Amino acid sequence: MNSILRMLTGLAVALTATSAHAQEQVFIYNPMAMSGLHIAAPDSHGRWHDLGQVCSSDYGTWGAEKKMYHPTLCRATDGTWRLVFQVNDRSPLFAAAYGHNLNAWRPQDYPRISTRQCLKPVVLPHGDGFRVYFESEQGRRMVDVTADFRHFSADQPADAPDSLWRRDTVEVDRRKLAGQLFSVTPQELELLRINFASRARDGKLSAERMHDDADRYTLLQSPVRATLTVQPDEQKAISDKLIGIFFEDISYAADGGLYAELIQNRDFEYTEKDHQGWNATTAWHSSRPIEIATENPLHPNNPHYAMVGPDTLWNEGWDGIAVEKGSKYDFSMYVRAGGQKQDFDVLLIGQTGITLAKSMLKTRAGEWQQFTAELTATDSDEKARLAIVPLRDARVALDMISLFPQETFKNRKNGLRKDLAETIAALHPKFVRFPGGCMSHGQGLENIYHWQHTVGPLESRKPDFNIWHYHQTRGLGFFEYFQFCEDIGAEPLPVLAAGVPCQNSANNAEGVGGQQGGIPMEEMPAYIDELCNLIDWANADPAANEWAKMRADAGHPAPFNLKYIGIGNEDIISTVFEERYEMICRALRERHPEIKVCGTVGPFHSPSADYEEGWEFTRLNPELQYMVDEHYYESTGWFMNHRDYYDQYDRQSAKVYLGEWAASTKVKLPNVETALAEALYLTDIERNGDIVEMTSYAPMLCKDGHSNWNPDMIYFSNTDIRTTPAYEIQRLFSVYSGDRYVASQLTVDSIVTRQPLDATQPVPTCESLQHRVGASIVADSKSGQRYLKLVNALPVELQVTIDGLQLPQQVKCEQLTGTVEDRNAKAETIETDQPTTLPPYSIRVIEL
Ligand code: AHR
Repeated sequence: MNSILRMLTGLAVALTATSAHAQEQVFIYNPMAMSGLHIAAPDSHGRWHDLGQVCSSDYGTWGAEKKMYHPTLCRATDGTWRLVFQVNDRSPLFAAAYGHNLNAWRPQDYPRISTRQCLKPVVLPHGDGFRVYFESEQGRRMVDVTADFRHFSADQPADAPDSLWRRDTVEVDRRKLAGQLFSVTPQELELLRINFASRARDGKLSAERMHDDADRYTLLQSPVRATLTVQPDEQKAISDKLIGIFFEDISYAADGGLYAELIQNRDFEYTEKDHQGWNATTAWHSSRPIEIATENPLHPNNPHYAMVGPDTLWNEGWDGIAVEKGSKYDFSMYVRAGGQKQDFDVLLIGQTGITLAKSMLKTRAGEWQQFTAELTATDSDEKARLAIVPLRDARVALDMISLFPQETFKNRKNGLRKDLAETIAALHPKFVRFPGGCMSHGQGLENIYHWQHTVGPLESRKPDFNIWHYHQTRGLGFFEYFQFCEDIGAEPLPVLAAGVPCQNSANNAEGVGGQQGGIPMEEMPAYIDELCNLIDWANADPAANEWAKMRADAGHPAPFNLKYIGIGNEDIISTVFEERYEMICRALRERHPEIKVCGTVGPFHSPSADYEEGWEFTRLNPELQYMVDEHYYESTGWFMNHRDYYDQYDRQSAKVYLGEWAASTKVKLPNVETALAEALYLTDIERNGDIVEMTSYAPMLCKDGHSNWNPDMIYFSNTDIRTTPAYEIQRLFSVYSGDRYVASQLTVDSIVTRQPLDATQPVPTCESLQHRVGASIVADSKSGQRYLKLVNALPVELQVTIDGLQLPQQVKCEQLTGTVEDRNAKAETIETDQPTTLPPYSIRVIEL
């Protein structure tokens, strides 16, 4: 918990005693639906001014929801606060939150009500608990009762007077607004002001950009001198898995991306749910409308197939099919023809209409039968198409029409795109988190990722829509993910939903959005079995376990040796979440104590409601989680100014997995600026490698033209892969990693500055540059290697004197440098006799 928040929470309790003598008035209100709850206070002339936002709505999807209407609060006898608000006019629920004080709110709950609408909820203290009144359809008044403000009774009709809904009116910054007036102590008001001032300060630091350095450091001259004081014998054990990768199927990372399948919509299962305007024939073309049937499918999980007569069937691939001269391709399809004969020419046709590859397929299928052909390309084309030309007069059913390059990563069948997988493998990640992200917990309860739908024969896998607005064939399923981990020597870290979908889910048919109440409690035991089955599937003996037998049948009799499992993805730590999460963790601990559970502490760093609640849960239940997953995407300024983030973490608590993080600027594309901010932060992570167990940059992959998110680590098209400076930093910290941290301190001790022309010119000091330089030394006890990383995020040269360690005269090392906007900078191997003199904006990694 950040220190200001801790202080505020502590003081709020102390202040309760004095609240009876409250002297100050505050006005609490909601200026607009999207702007959350605000607080205003009068100045010495009695004019009211907005102080800022104290909390915001976390209900439902971004853009359409996250709204707050008619917030009302009341104060409990212990000085804490209760807040309720309306989220919209069509959901059968209200929002409820508990405030330790006006700055620190617990995650919101959205109690379900029995009527369709919940309008203008009002909360009042009642006995030992609270009552929440609201209006439903036709102005019916109802009441809900709660003791703990987390569990609410079934609502009842209420005989409530109009006065309950009376609101105060105040003119704030010249706008007349409705809200509530409260009395607070002067100390409470002062704490609010301190909090807002601290937020403003933090905001200013977070806005710091290297891009503006020309102004910030006008007076700074080269070189800046620093001393790295090393205590070679002072070492501590750190995680040997600090750098891994997070693979999420976002921005076409899987289908159309890493998964090498070249045919789009091979299963004719695209629907409007995947993407507006899509249907079973999307990506397919013919001279007449393509007939789609469902009567007698290849598999119930793949109900749609095409009925093909004399017309040629074309597939456009994923933005075309990239074909390379001399390469061989495996074509396959299932045919059902009631015994009729049908022959097909299968062709790859280039953009100019030339035939790039051709093969003939003779089929005579009764029921569904798979036919295969090999195609060899006589020429290259970046945007070829597949043509299936029927040669006889017959009408047959076709499904699972597939084309793979024979050359895949490690030449696996149903494999991964070789160049992309090799680019990932070159990172030497120590683990892989998959398959998401938001995609894991899904858009609503129906879209939660069920791992067992993604294994087994391809036609039996259950396709689904992707929360990122496209389709998942599940051809890249859990077997393929685990196989990839094994192939690159990384630990698998599957992450599965904690019994709740993504909190940003849209409203379902009943109008319930967000976590949608979670998987019903009575279905949770089955869901927990599903998670345990995964562990059996991955690790058990195929002779003794049916799940493990599926793994063996798929070609992997040996166990995958799964050690970690992630439960939940940056969920809102609501009551609905916590109850299910605890159930899962307890069951896993009991049934699979050998598995290390990785929990989640919400989508933001400290101080944020979910982070605080998640860590509180972790502290109260130390036996349940080995590690918790933190996520934060932040500005370069934030990273540069929070270098001590993990220094104060309790070493006895659960380990940290920084599962999603990236630095960004307004441009939202990785460049040298973001990379150096990440590099600085990683030197601090290495220092804290005794508590931080794992980290993974996010997202990893983004296909050109299909971006859901920026920045990403690797951009690609069908033919091209562009690694970014962020990739380079991840690679440097992963390749040159260790399992011991060697104590050292880097101190800026001398700078040269020009004379200021006037008092407005900022004069840098040694201290003010400290957050722009970084160093760390790690040792690998297996190889005996030690690596020194030096980072210079300044616009001038950095000369480092090393105290306590001898460096060779001449070194060969890896260095990345560039202008801050440079998006293509790569690390290069250099030889230098000045190993510790770093050019402006650079990182150097030296083997000691
Ligand atoms: O990495 C992209 C998204 O960011 C992830 O799906 C989600 O976990 C986070 O909000």
